[in-house]
Amino acid sequence: MAAAAQLATPHPATAMQKIVILGATSGIALEVERQLALRGCELLLVARSPQRLAELRADLLVRGAQQALTYSANLASIQQHAALFDFIRGAFADFDTVLLAYGSMHNQKDSETSVDVLLEELQVNFVSAAAILNWFAVDLERRGTGCLAAITSVAGDRGRRSNYVYGSAKGGLSLFLQGLRSRLYPAGVRVITIKPGPVQTPMTDDLPNAARFADPEQVARDIVRALERRSPDVLYTPKIWRYIMTAVQQIPESIFKRLSF
Ligand SMILES: NC(=O)c1ccc[n+]([C@@H]2O[C@H](COP(=O)([O-])OP(=O)(O)OC[C@H]3O[C@@H](n4cnc5c(N)ncnc54)[C@H](OP(=O)(O)O)[C@@H]3O)[C@@H](O)[C@H]2O)c1
Repeated sequence: MAAAAQLATPHPATAMQKIVILGATSGIALEVERQLALRGCELLLVARSPQRLAELRADLLVRGAQQALTYSANLASIQQHAALFDFIRGAFADFDTVLLAYGSMHNQKDSETSVDVLLEELQVNFVSAAAILNWFAVDLERRGTGCLAAITSVAGDRGRRSNYVYGSAKGGLSLFLQGLRSRLYPAGVRVITIKPGPVQTPMTDDLPNAARFADPEQVARDIVRALERRSPDVLYTPKIWRYIMTAVQQIPESIFKRLSF
């Protein structure tokens, strides 16, 4: 009985209503926002381009969003995080959900020949993401409620020859989220790691076979359901990627290192 009580959820999940989207102009985030707008949610949209944010805001209000605030920042720049959080404290202090969606995927070959590209890839996808998530973690932990979700990638589950710089940044972020989930669990804050397989967005436009990649609307449906339920801890989307990556992780290193993909 005592053990069962210890395992019980410390605080029940509350309804999702006020959501912060970091990287609001991403192809996947756009679809998530449309579905959240249909539910009448209140949104704070953070992205680099003020013009794209203004257009997005107008569109989401028409689609049913109850509120759509915008904030322009380059989240890869850690120096800009404190000002964003000041804005949130003033205008959106009682947010309940955060989705981190920004990221970049350079051609791996460029990172092999330029340390600047390599460091930028790590900065955008891991270092800055961990830094901004920590601001939200501290706030939600203090309030004892909420949900933090971030999009990593199946590329972070195994270091592949053709994509290991991006993959290591996403793998690092997945590990960070795993630890954060455990840290915030006693406070009643949920942390969701979102691992999409390849999705049709501007990020993958130039890749071969892009037309066969997942539909962002389907991926967004999975993400919105997870945000609503504050579960699962780790979401593979589309679901088949859970099984694919389980199989990929079983391949012995002695064989994996010879594979050219
Ligand atoms: N598409 C896929 O196949 C796939 C698969 C697995 C995981 N993911 C992940 O899913 C998330 C969303 O990606 P997406 O497919 O929707 O890609 P996307 O449409 O290319 O969006 C990328 C987003 O990241 C922002 N961004 C890019 N470089 C940045 C930089 N240097 N500094 C700050 N912001 C930057 C972009 O902002 P701007 O609009 O200002 O350019 C945009 O909001 C990313 O984390 C990505 O790694 C994607």
